Amino acid sequence: MADESIVLSKTASVNQQIRNPAISKMDEKNTTNAGSDVLPDIGDHFMIKRSDDTWHAAEVVQTRQSDHSGPGVKPEFYVHYDGFNRRLDEWVEIDRFDLSSKIEDQQTKVKELTISLTDLTDGTDRKITRNQKRKHDEINHIQKTYAEMDPTTAALEKEHEAITKVKYIDKIQIGKYEIDAWYFSPYPEEYGKQSKLWICEYCLKYMRLEKSYRYHQTQCFQRHPPGKEVYRRGTISVFEVDGKDAKIYCQNLCLLAKLFLDHKTLYFDVEPFLFYILTEVDRAGCHLVGYFSKEKESPDGNNVACILTLPPFQRKGYGKFIIALSYEISKIDGSVGSPEKPLSDLGKLSYRSYWSWVLLEILRDFRGTLTIRDLSRMTSITQNDIISTLQSLNMVKYWKGQHVICVTPKLVEEHLKSAQYKKPPITVDVSCLRWEPPRRGFKMLKK
Ligand code: ACO
Ligand code: ZN
Repeated sequence: MADESIVLSKTASVNQQIRNPAISKMDEKNTTNAGSDVLPDIGDHFMIKRSDDTWHAAEVVQTRQSDHSGPGVKPEFYVHYDGFNRRLDEWVEIDRFDLSSKIEDQQTKVKELTISLTDLTDGTDRKITRNQKRKHDEINHIQKTYAEMDPTTAALEKEHEAITKVKYIDKIQIGKYEIDAWYFSPYPEEYGKQSKLWICEYCLKYMRLEKSYRYHQTQCFQRHPPGKEVYRRGTISVFEVDGKDAKIYCQNLCLLAKLFLDHKTLYFDVEPFLFYILTEVDRAGCHLVGYFSKEKESPDGNNVACILTLPPFQRKGYGKFIIALSYEISKIDGSVGSPEKPLSDLGKLSYRSYWSWVLLEILRDFRGTLTIRDLSRMTSITQNDIISTLQSLNMVKYWKGQHVICVTPKLVEEHLKSAQYKKPPITVDVSCLRWEPPRRGFKMLKK
């Protein structure tokens, strides 16, 4: 979570600029709420201290009595920090509230956020462009407000938020890692209200009690995902698992993944999917790092449904490795593909970074004429994704009804020197990929 705070601190400092007077007042007071008889209610907004000691306006979404052992039962409050991604929602106790700060006026909060966004650009009140706002929102994980969405999306989003508003499972233990959960996941009732779940890192069985987990460890002999190894290089190994052949494993994987994905809805109907499981291998076995899933037949032309790197392994390059692998598989398959929408904020960052790198690599070395269709054939990236990437790199123009790539060696050079060009730390060695396309039509022939 340290990485998260790096990113968030950018936004926090912006908020602090505006809220400085209030914050310094709170620090002077060293606010504690001991003895206060006001209890926050669902829907109330207060200033609340995050674990990084910064204060933010937040809404109380739910309350519960803590289940921690110890004397007395304490109320806990599930809070959403205004303007932040929901993965930062958390259960807090009353001592993290500044009870004197109840915020009555919603309008004031909206204004503060708008000002902070303007401040970020150049310190003046110049209006930022839509492209700048998109970039800023992506990097800082700022959510769109309902007002910015079209009415159907806003209605669906409200319904989604109502169903998934509280993540009851705070943490999981998987292998040697204890990991904070980010979002709600629909584990069966008796597991879903547990604040910690114990998960076998090999078969992904979930358990409520440490005792059951320890016992399971003596009984479970699985040491790698239940499928065929399709990639092996050094300590990195990837297995292809068919949702039809290993239904329980894949369902368990989807439930686990949902703890870190806000918008994906696949949990139980896993049969139409293949799962590519990335592991790190040592003498004990193949340890789960991440995965991507893929529909066996995608009517929308998606070559990835969901992609995940477990938090302890994030920001080391595994995400872009998984993305690259999905495209290498599409290349062998002779198809082009795109990830299923919507992409999460982190998904967008990773894809944009991968696409930019792939395209700049080609443009750097290429002499002559290239069309967007050529680029698509070479990379298995869809024409739309290529166009949006080249647009973000300022390399495409709309001319006489079509998109035209406009690149000078100087522009490519500039990008190659810039922060957007990042060679992925872990690349796919295609000579280590043993993947064959499924024999399509085989079933029909058999019949
Ligand atoms: N804040 C800012 N940037 C980040 C963060 C973060 N918390 N995490 C990753 N990035 C950036 C990295 O800096 C890198 O960009 P760069 O190349 O410009 O440096 C890029 O994202 C990819 O980094 P990787 O290390 O290759 O990716 P990682 O292993 O962290 O995995 C992933 C990325 C899979 C999106 C991961 O964050 C994750 O599992 N998130 C939760 C699930 C999710 O959102 N999945 C995508 C949903 S969309 C879909 O499934 C189609
Ligand atoms: Zn097991």
